[in-house]
Parts: sequence; C-alpha cells; structure tokens
Amino acid sequence: MESQIDDRVSASGAAPGPIKRECATHGSYQAMHIFGRHWANCPECEREAQERIAAQDAERAREQRVAVAKARLECNLRNCGLAGRNLRASFQNFTATTPKQREVLDAVVGFAKTFTTTSGGGLWLLGLPGTGKTHLGAALVSNSIRERSLAACMHSFGQIQTMLRARWSNSKESRSFWEIEDGLETTDQLLEHLGTIPLLALDELGVGRGTDAELETLFQIVDRRYQLERPTVVLSNLKPIELKAAMGDRAYDRLREGTRLLICDWPSHRGQIK
Ligand SMILES: Nc1ncnc2c1ncn2[C@@H]1O[C@H](COP(=O)(O)OP(=O)(O)OP(=O)(O)O)[C@@H](O)[C@H]1O
Ligand SMILES: [Mg+2]
Ligand SMILES: [Zn+2]
Repeated sequence: MESQIDDRVSASGAAPGPIKRECATHGSYQAMHIFGRHWANCPECEREAQERIAAQDAERAREQRVAVAKARLECNLRNCGLAGRNLRASFQNFTATTPKQREVLDAVVGFAKTFTTTSGGGLWLLGLPGTGKTHLGAALVSNSIRERSLAACMHSFGQIQTMLRARWSNSKESRSFWEIEDGLETTDQLLEHLGTIPLLALDELGVGRGTDAELETLFQIVDRRYQLERPTVVLSNLKPIELKAAMGDRAYDRLREGTRLLICDWPSHRGQIK
C-alpha cells in the first residue's frame, strides 16, 4: 500500500502518534509517522518488496556467474592446444582391455580427480607408439577444463619450439598461427602462461633435438612450475634415461620429483583402427 501524505500534520503543526491502518492484502497494521509527512507502508508489503528485490539481485548474480564460467570454459578450450582427434579423446572412449591398460587408465583418472594447482609432481606416460599416451593426455586436459574448471593445455615439444621461434623471429605469419590468445605475443607472456597454467602436458618430449636456447626455455618453464608446485605431465616414447639426455639434467630432475611413472608397453592401437 502506498504511503499517504498526512494532511493533519500541517493543521496541528505536530506529528501525530501511530495509527491503525488497513492493507488490502495483509489487514490492519500500526502505521508510524515518518519525516513529519508520510505514514509508513504496511510492513508485510515492505518485507515482500525487499524479498523480491533480493531475489532479483540473486538471480542477476547467478546469471553473471554462469556467463563468466561459460566464457572461461570457452577461453580455456580455445587455448588448450587440443585439436581434431585430440579434442574427441576422453577417458570414456579409451578402451582398456588388459590389466595393464586398466591400471594406467585408473592412474590417469585418479590423477585427473585429485591434482590441484599446488599439488606438484605429475605423471609420466612413457612407452611405445600408438598406445594412447596422447589420447590420455588430451583426455586429462579436457577433463580438467570441463569437469574441474581448471585451465590446462597440452603441447608437443615441437609446438613449443614453433611458438618460441615465432616470437623470437617476430614474424607475423608464424606468430598468428600459434597465437594462443591475446596477451601471449611475447616470449615472456608465453613462458608465464606455460609456467603457471594449473596443468601442463608436454607431449613428444625427445622427438627432435632442441637448440640450447630452446632447452633453456623448456627448463625455465619446468623450473617455474616446480617453484609454484604446478603439476606437469610428460608424454614420450623415450625411456627415463633417454629423457634425461633429451631435456637436460636440471629439467629432468625437477620433473621427476613427486611424479608417477606409467609405462605403456602394449601393441599400438593404430593398427586396429579401420
Ligand atoms: N586404448 C585406446 N582406446 C581407444 N583409442 C585409442 C586407444 N589407444 C589409442 N587410441 C587411439 O589411437 C590413436 C593413436 O593414439 P595416441 O596418439 O594417443 O598414441 P601415442 O601413444 O600418443 O603414440 P605416439 O607415441 O606415436 O605419439 C588415437 O586416435 C587414439 O585416440
Ligand atoms: Mg603421441
Ligand atoms: Zn500489506
């Protein structure tokens, strides 16, 4: 009910005491005089109006949270380094028929559920070609983004080399190809991204030799993640001892701390694909 101007005020010059008024919805109530001019509204109507405003505010805030989460999910998927078949890889479409495959799948799924931005360590998936290492790495990255809202990306060492060279040479064509997102134009920005993202999967480590500068940069990424205790996943065809030679002692030493080694030594899945 609307408050009304009280015409008795001007006549007597003094504010009158409370009076009994009627609300069409809530019945009678004691109305107080406010500011020497208006009668207070029905308290129940006031309360209901406040509740409506609070509900509208809560709904607006909820919509905003949903929009922010959607934008973050899209941004994380755009920048996760997965494309084509790797985007379709999931834990569900990884067939584990042997005990060894199941053990590896369970370990990766367990890691996917439990790693945090400061849990350090990681996983090493090493083994033969076609055994699904990249598939599992991609599934882990997807799962992290979709199920846990944690940014994650997977890049082969070759891709990182290309991203670095593009920024070192500052060539526009090559740079735009590997532009991950605005704000990653310089080497420093790229290193900050790879060094701090909650989960980084490094694929095909040891394929091709990196230059000294590239290996030094890899070390910087690994060292930054090590200092921040960000987990890192390594995927490679190499044996641990060969990895050590390929990436250098210092990167190897940091990466192996707290990591779980999983060996994939079953026949290639590629031969089975029709
Ligand atoms: N157990 C599996 N279940 C379903 N698909 C699989 C499985 N293992 C591999 N694949 C599929 O086989 C193809 C090759 O697997 P992937 O690229 O992951 O192998 P890899 O171990 O990374 O090989 P490489 O060492 O040569 O890089 C992919 O398309 C992948 O999705
Ligand atoms: Mg692979
Ligand atoms: Zn009322």
